[in-house]
Amino acid sequence: MPRSQIAKHPADFPVPPKMPDYERARADFTWEAVRRELTDEGCADLNMARIAVDRHADANAERPALRVTDRHFRVEDLSYGELRARTNGFADLLCRLGVQPGEVVATLLGRIPALYTAALGTLKNQGLYCPLFTAFGPEPLRQRLQLAGARVLVTTLPLYRRKIASLRKDLPHLKHVLLADADAGHDALPDCLPLEGLLAESDREFAIPPTAEETPALLHFTSGTTGQPKGAVQSHGAILAQYASSRLVLDLGTEDRFWCTADPGWVTGTVYGILGPLSTGSTLILDPEPFEVRRWYRILEAERVSVWYTAPTAIRMLMRAGSALAREYDLSALRLAASVGEPLNPEAVVWGEEALGRPFHDTWWQTETGAVMIANYPSQDIRPGSMGRPLPGVEAAIVHRRGAHAAAVPEPDTEGELALRSPWPSMFRAYLGETRRYAACFADGWYLTGDLARRDADGYFWFVGRGDDLIKTSGHLIGPFEVENVLMEHRGVAEAGVVGKPDPIAGQVVKAFVALRKGFDGDEGLRRELLGHARRRLGAAVAPKELEFRQSLPKTRSGKIMRRLLRAEEKGEPMGDLSSLDDSG
Ligand code: WT7
Repeated sequence: MPRSQIAKHPADFPVPPKMPDYERARADFTWEAVRRELTDEGCADLNMARIAVDRHADANAERPALRVTDRHFRVEDLSYGELRARTNGFADLLCRLGVQPGEVVATLLGRIPALYTAALGTLKNQGLYCPLFTAFGPEPLRQRLQLAGARVLVTTLPLYRRKIASLRKDLPHLKHVLLADADAGHDALPDCLPLEGLLAESDREFAIPPTAEETPALLHFTSGTTGQPKGAVQSHGAILAQYASSRLVLDLGTEDRFWCTADPGWVTGTVYGILGPLSTGSTLILDPEPFEVRRWYRILEAERVSVWYTAPTAIRMLMRAGSALAREYDLSALRLAASVGEPLNPEAVVWGEEALGRPFHDTWWQTETGAVMIANYPSQDIRPGSMGRPLPGVEAAIVHRRGAHAAAVPEPDTEGELALRSPWPSMFRAYLGETRRYAACFADGWYLTGDLARRDADGYFWFVGRGDDLIKTSGHLIGPFEVENVLMEHRGVAEAGVVGKPDPIAGQVVKAFVALRKGFDGDEGLRRELLGHARRRLGAAVAPKELEFRQSLPKTRSGKIMRRLLRAEEKGEPMGDLSSLDDSG
């Protein structure tokens, strides 16, 4: 078989895929049909948590919803019935604390049961659920909690002590901090409440208020190239696309044991770590531990994972450990492996087939789209290197912008901006408090993604690159502006420019270029000091890994640092004559 094409789902695929014929599904698909499938006759109640949890608990309360692994591979199951009761309890607790529908409940948690309780319980109470990344330092957390005006935060004692306690005075909106660790020594912390203790006193029944499709549900922060992070808001109706994509892209159903390795602090953690797969009735495999090659293979084997959703950085680390290691494990339960978040190298697709017995199916989406929009489906040939084709119900195109207009380019193989026909159920409905920034994402009925891509003659989309300065490191989107601001806090720094430097494992790593004020020496001591400062303020996941001193940085005449030129240099591309651009003398 040529490398450019990998076979359809193999003949040994244990069950036929839910979408056997893409063309037909595309022709027949309507969102109305999905809506009818998920709601009762004559009742438009689209509460996400009811659809994800209660619908299945009502049908079979015993079915496992969460299967939690611990450090020593001991597992504990939580059934749909128990998850219904716990999330009811959390919704009841919010009511008792006086938290109103529409108010923000944030989590700063790893993959522990409290995360699922808080997320789904918040949705039952019609709160706005906002996950935060535990590898963020205090500065990104302060900014996001303030922008969200978060009323409640659920976290653990160590995370609270390390990252939140010192910010508390800057967060007047934050009324309640709930600590999820059972034995957290709460007496020592008068400003915090014990989550499990309060849940034990809560009502296990909760009447979910009727929830309209447009009721706001999710708030995910994503970085911009300038200004503050953007809070993308999705409404309860997004569950239609989360459900449809979980079935058609990830092929999930009630028999599946599904493992999503994404961190719960980002949108994939919410949409495919919680809502989408639960809405299909499958069982989530949860591992709270960090990545480790043997550990991951052991989980795939021991938990008989049937569908696996992971990311290129992790896949490249598995590849580095070699396919012989993979073959030591029995991965015969695995029927589908998929990838998201950054470009998936064609070699990785093929490697999956060789080492795991399953090729990786690439999928594309972003925080703003709320669900997978483009994918290589189980029933279709994979084109290694391609992101695949649009989800049924979604129209994608390559467009060229002209001023305030955008026009679709009909010719195949033409580079342009990837755009999606607005709206679809999981499309973001706002950037929190930023009407103009939101409006600027749309033109002539298209949502403009900011990604550059091509479409081939068969309708497969190919990622070309980002059209902006955002950095993708290990699948996480980082805004250079936030990093530059923190570097500028140091009294020695005159200018800072931050870019993504190509990296064989992480895709990109964050690299800073710094010009110093008069009287400061760009020596090793100062370099370390600046890297340390950035790590303390931003957290290890966001801070630069590399820092280089420069006399001055390339700038436009208006004084804007030209990250594009710094990036080109990192890639070894010629920078052209900078002297004409550099106005710093
Ligand atoms: C950006 C979105 C994916 C949801 C969680 C992250 C890049 C995403 C792919 C892919 C190449 C990809 C894009 C996109 N991206 N998937 N399959 N191939 N690039 O959401 O943090 O909002 O990031 O990730 O640049 O715009 P996000």
